[in-house]
Amino acid sequence: MDEENKLSRKTVLKAALAAGVAAPVALFGGPALARTSVAEGQVPELTPACHDGDEPTIEQTEGPYFKPNSPERTNLVTPGTQGTRLTVTGYVFGRACLPVNRALLDFWQADVNGAYDNTGYTFRGHQYTNAQGAFTLSTIVPGLYPGRTRHIHVKVQAPGRPILTTQLYFPNEPRNNTDTIFDARLLMTVRDNGSAKEAAFDFVLNVPQTPTSTPPTSTTTTGGPTTSQPPGGTSWAVGTSYAAGARVTYDGRGYVCLQGHTAQPGWEPPAVPALWRAE
Ligand SMILES: [Fe+2]
Repeated sequence: MDEENKLSRKTVLKAALAAGVAAPVALFGGPALARTSVAEGQVPELTPACHDGDEPTIEQTEGPYFKPNSPERTNLVTPGTQGTRLTVTGYVFGRACLPVNRALLDFWQADVNGAYDNTGYTFRGHQYTNAQGAFTLSTIVPGLYPGRTRHIHVKVQAPGRPILTTQLYFPNEPRNNTDTIFDARLLMTVRDNGSAKEAAFDFVLNVPQTPTSTPPTSTTTTGGPTTSQPPGGTSWAVGTSYAAGARVTYDGRGYVCLQGHTAQPGWEPPAVPALWRAE
């Protein structure tokens, strides 16, 4: 185990935040990522697999357009590239929410017109996480093509571990409701930055890790939620259609719905920060 993994998760994430890699919750103005809660001294509750016992990032089909041997690069944009600029940042964690150093991320996506480059490597590239488990991808918002909602493909692999093949999605896309492959657990948080967009997603791989410290306490929290606040709304339930602004309780906590959807198994509020924000 390298030196980074000996640090507490709080220390690691605070260091990452200080390095400017991660964005605090206020930057995205909506759902919080696990890193933010931890850095603020709270037990991470809003990113699914950072709970003990929660499932890692789920697997999805690679589709028909994966190509091996993509170039190593973090920037898929060239001077002539058309489309809305998009930066995707995030972390790769193991089961104990500790960062995974040198995790391989291989991204591929459609161009602004919804077409894949199957002869060359346009919008294809792989990279490795740094010692904090962080990655950054510079690309564009992919175009739509028939039968699918907007998405980015990715393969993620910790050193010496199996490959996770999955896809990342965009909130508030009309086709999210009709794409049978779509899964809200794979929604990125996305915000506008001028004419560009900034997205974030943290992967949690099924990598065994041993936590080396007790979970952070709330003693240093500033402005965090109080534990005595009575939650509002009805209990979250599978099959219920929730509109944006709806309030529910889940596991004793209150949440506000961020976008309309019908609840599916595995989409519990703490597991899907793009759908629910803790009150
Ligand atoms: Fe695709």
